Amino acid sequence: MATFKTPIITLPYDSFTARASATEQQSYTEHLEHGGVLFLPNLGFSLSPDEKRFLSPDWSDGKAKNIYLRGNDRTIRGAKGNADDLMAMSALIERYATGTQQLISHLLPSYANHAKPANTSLRCIEASGRKTSWRKDDSRLHADAFPSKPTQGERILRVFTNVNPYGKPRVWKIGEPFSEMAKKFIHKVPRYSRTQAKLLHLLSITKSYRGEYDHTMLHLHDLIKADADYQHNAPQMTFEFSANSTWIVYSDQVLHAVLSGQYMMEQTLHLPPDQLDYPDASPQKVIEKILNRNISL
Ligand code: SIN
Ligand code: FE
Repeated sequence: MATFKTPIITLPYDSFTARASATEQQSYTEHLEHGGVLFLPNLGFSLSPDEKRFLSPDWSDGKAKNIYLRGNDRTIRGAKGNADDLMAMSALIERYATGTQQLISHLLPSYANHAKPANTSLRCIEASGRKTSWRKDDSRLHADAFPSKPTQGERILRVFTNVNPYGKPRVWKIGEPFSEMAKKFIHKVPRYSRTQAKLLHLLSITKSYRGEYDHTMLHLHDLIKADADYQHNAPQMTFEFSANSTWIVYSDQVLHAVLSGQYMMEQTLHLPPDQLDYPDASPQKVIEKILNRNISL
């Protein structure tokens, strides 16, 4: 199996309010926007003795994959429990959201006023052996793109923290650079149809209008997940995110797959494309360069 230079850089910080110099901040943004991963092995997230009981799959409502607070509407979802339990769970997840916002403002301050907090989640289900359709199977390499949620060019930046209390890592595969994957698959993406996009929105299948960018990202997601040869033979590396570590990644750009791990917290942020420091490295511009034409957002 072919490999490649690691996209992971390791940062020493052990606090969500860690300070970095302007040069360091610039280098982190540059790394992330070029498909890198920032790995903070010394940054865990503390749960109080009372909160530790929430590290159990038993709090799941049995329907959703995660327990989460959605974007602006912070009602807790995917959980079961009495009103006090749900309030305590919600406070825990909200505290993580606050921590990640502090982390962004200290390490990536050029994003701080523009990154819109989306979902914040607590993920207590073991990632290995989850039964799901191939399309939702995150043990296959993919870049994030969601059928019902067009981003209209907004980038998906994610902060993850492994909160496993038994010292178990979260094991990921990380794939080749987005541009290498896109060169192999872009010509298999079906032609975009505005009429179909309008219909999908009208029928509420998509929450907003799916432009050619989201159409392309979604098809690339599906094409590589469905391609067993690519999954097995494309350049990739395995990486263990240790317990009590944090990592930051543009998950719409870095090819990733989760092999195993349990108990993780995650914050999604959406960054408007005009706030990128290196727009030419974005999936949109990479795709446009290969196609030699513009694609609509
Ligand atoms: C994902 O594929 O976005 C999920 C990764 C994980 O659960 O570790
Ligand atoms: Fe993913």
